[in-house]
Amino acid sequence: MPATILIGAQWGDEGKGRVADWLARDSYAMARYAGGDNAGHTVMVGEKQFKLHLTPSGIVQPHVRCILGSGMVINPTRLVQELDMLAGQGVDISPQRIQISTRAHIITPAHMELDGAEERARGGESIGTTRRGIGPAYQDKSARTGLLTGEMADPETFADKVLASVKQANKLLVNYYGLEAMPTDEIAAQACNAAQRLAPYLSETSHSINEMLEVGQRVLCEGAQGTLLDLDHGHYPYLTSSSAVAGGALTGLGFGPHYVDRVVGVAKAYSTRVGNGPFPTELLDDTGDRIRTAGAEFGTTTGRPRRCGWLDVVILHYARRVNGLTELVLTKLDVLSDLDEIKIAVAYELDGRRITQMPLDTAAIARVQPVYETLPGWKIDISSARRLADLPQNARRYVEHVRDLTGLPITMISVGPERDQAVYG
Ligand code: GDP
Ligand code: IMO
Ligand code: MG
Repeated sequence: MPATILIGAQWGDEGKGRVADWLARDSYAMARYAGGDNAGHTVMVGEKQFKLHLTPSGIVQPHVRCILGSGMVINPTRLVQELDMLAGQGVDISPQRIQISTRAHIITPAHMELDGAEERARGGESIGTTRRGIGPAYQDKSARTGLLTGEMADPETFADKVLASVKQANKLLVNYYGLEAMPTDEIAAQACNAAQRLAPYLSETSHSINEMLEVGQRVLCEGAQGTLLDLDHGHYPYLTSSSAVAGGALTGLGFGPHYVDRVVGVAKAYSTRVGNGPFPTELLDDTGDRIRTAGAEFGTTTGRPRRCGWLDVVILHYARRVNGLTELVLTKLDVLSDLDEIKIAVAYELDGRRITQMPLDTAAIARVQPVYETLPGWKIDISSARRLADLPQNARRYVEHVRDLTGLPITMISVGPERDQAVYG
């Protein structure tokens, strides 16, 4: 049963990239199954930092084959830039190790422009998207008007279609949104160049993934975003347009559930969120600022400051259920080292009632008050800990408490961004 699914258990940016890098050691292939370059996954190997938006994090390890699955939305120009950046960092980007599904959807410049226009039109109720065109591209996919990645096999026709999509969007931008039309001069040439570069990577990836699984080669399905940003299971509409949960790996890659034997949830030792929407344990005070500074909580993709708050076990319980998590990884424990005391939300008060199940209703979650347990801090730098025994007693106590509250084994605790800065449970 050789498939592992790696999931963000909160609102994204949990450290999935670095955890994927750990799991890549035992993986034959790594596949992204949802989202696009709204994701930003960081892997640090020594002094080298890799920021991956579309390519699976396994690209950093030479033995791993990488797949961009059909559930993704792909901006070809951005993908070419990312591959060039990786090649510049000494990574093998040959088509022998990277496959792009012919059935993913293309993000055109029109989608990016419409993303911005839709956000502006939402005014005070904006989602705070990454403006990478994710929502509009998935809208086209669902409406069956999208452009498949497989079309890049014929770069000239593909370029014509991209240009047509921009001309179509221009009508909407001008006539509906009252904005300026996008310039069209460079669009076709850019699309043609990108398609020429990417065509050799195109493949019917669900066949190759199933062939790997059938002979027992382990495939790591790398989630993007997080459980609370999932289109079906987050708080609508403050979420992304794809299936970020474990089920999304099956539909986004095209294999059966019987192959899955491990579902790894990644959670920060506290919580962060970028963009708008409910966040029960958000800290709008000095402690929130201290966590942001200590954790360098600024978006990998957009550079926006991330909203910071305490760990929320109500959310983790929910993530455990909707994904069927079999284990938990706790990241960025080192970031809490300066605090005198650390809180964990164990329940909510909603309209005078104590509840332990996360309300799915967006208005209800916006009204909850977290019920906290307070634990003592450890006030010692833990970034050089490599074994559980190296952690100070209060840090161990915090980790054990999270384990007991979630009922999940904690298989990795990270204490710094670098590959080796981790303790294994
Ligand atoms: P992802 O989207 O889930 O892959 O996470 P991101 O890469 O967007 O954000 C996580 C950030 O935290 C990155 O800058 C990582 O280098 C950094 N990071 C990961 N683990 C740790 C850790 O244990 N400690 C610290 N201080 N930083 C970490
Ligand atoms: P990774 O994979 C954190 C958020 C955006 C916004 C909402 C919708 O790095 O964890 P979108 O551009 O997808 O339409 O934006 O989702 N968002 C993320 N937040 N990490 C991500 O990815 C995210 N991808 C999207 O900030 O609130
Ligand atoms: Mg990220």
